[in-house]
Amino acid sequence: DKAGHKHFMSKEIAEQPVVVAEAIRSYLPTGSDRVNLPGENLDFSKLDRLTMVACGTAFYACLTAKYWFEQLAKMPVEVDIASEFRYREPPIPGRTLALFVSQSGETADTLAALRYCEGKADKIVSVINVPESSIARESDLALPIHAGVEIGVASTKAFTCQLAVLLMLALKAAADRGTMTDEELSDHAAALRGLPTALNTALDQNRPIRKAAQRLSEARDVLFLGRGLMYPLALEGALKLKEISYIHAEGYASGELKHGPIALIDKNMPVVVMAPRDALFDKTVSNMQEVMARKGKVILVSDDDGIAEAEDGVWATIRMPHIHSSLSPILYAVPAQLLAYHTAVAKGTDVDQPRNLAKSVTVE
Ligand code: F6R
Repeated sequence: DKAGHKHFMSKEIAEQPVVVAEAIRSYLPTGSDRVNLPGENLDFSKLDRLTMVACGTAFYACLTAKYWFEQLAKMPVEVDIASEFRYREPPIPGRTLALFVSQSGETADTLAALRYCEGKADKIVSVINVPESSIARESDLALPIHAGVEIGVASTKAFTCQLAVLLMLALKAAADRGTMTDEELSDHAAALRGLPTALNTALDQNRPIRKAAQRLSEARDVLFLGRGLMYPLALEGALKLKEISYIHAEGYASGELKHGPIALIDKNMPVVVMAPRDALFDKTVSNMQEVMARKGKVILVSDDDGIAEAEDGVWATIRMPHIHSSLSPILYAVPAQLLAYHTAVAKGTDVDQPRNLAKSVTVE
C-alpha cells in the first residue's frame, strides 16, 4: 500500500518525521535527557574503541557516526566496508566494541564480519531494522531503529533512523565516559526532539527540489561535495542518485576537490553542495567558488544564513531549516533523497525496483 504515493520510495521518504520521532522516543524517554538502551546495558567507560562495519547506505551511516563518537565521546573509531573487513581479518584489540549496522539484518558480508568478531571483540552490538534477523540474533545486543518495513530498494527512512539511533548511542557513550557536560547533553536531547518538525519543513521543500532535479536529469555526471558530517552524506547522495536514476555520481570531501576531481568541472557538470552555515561553511564556500569559476553548475543546499551569504552565481538553492550542527546529516538526508527521487522520476526509471539491485544482499 503506497498510501497515495506513486512509489514506495516517496512514501518512505515522507514517513521520516514519524518514524524518526518513534526512534527518538524509544531511546530518549520523555522527561529525560539521558539515553536509555533496551535490554542489556552497555557501559562505554569500560570500552576504549569502536569498530563499525556495514555495506552501502548503512556503511555511510557508520561513517557519519564516526564523527559523532569521536567528537562527542572522544572514542577512536574504525569504519569498514564488510566485504573488505572480513577478508582483511584485522586484529581486534581488547576493550573493543564491534558495531554492525544493517537494515535487513541479513546482508551476507556484514554477517560474516560479525562472525569474525565473535570471541575477539568485547561486545557485539547491531543496529538493525528487522529484529528477528540473523545479525540481530547473533549480536550480544540488537538495537532496533523502528523504521518499519522498508520496501523501496533504495534505503531512505532506514538511513535516517540508523543515524538517529547512532547519534543517541554516541550521546550515551559521551555520558558514560563523562566527555560532555549535562548542559551539552540537554542541548542535544532538545535538538533531537525538535528533529521531526525540522524533517517536515525539509519535506515542504519538495517543489524547489523537483525543479532542481529536472535540471539534474539532463546531466551525465554529478558531483556531491560536503565537509565534516556532510561528507558521508555527499557519498550517500551520490549513491542514491546513481542507483535509481543511473546517472553517474560521485561524492567527495570538499577539501579533496583540488586533488583531482576539479579536472572534471566544466559547464556540463552539476555539483550538489551540502553546506549548513556551520564552522566549516566558509571552507566549503571557497571550494564552491572554485567550481563556479570553472563554470560548474552549483546546487547549494543550505539554511537561510548560508544561502544569504553564498547564493551569488549558484544554479539553484535548496533551503533547509536551521538545525543543531550535530543533527545536520539527518536533516540534509531528505533533500539528498528527494533530489535522487525526482531525477529518477524525470528520467522515467523504475524507482522502487532499480535494475540489477536486490533489497537484501544475502549472497556475496
Ligand atoms: C542503498 C542500499 C544498499 C544497502 C546495503 C546494505 O540504497 O539500500 O546500499 O544499504 O545493501 O543493506 P542492509 O542495510 O540491509 O545490510
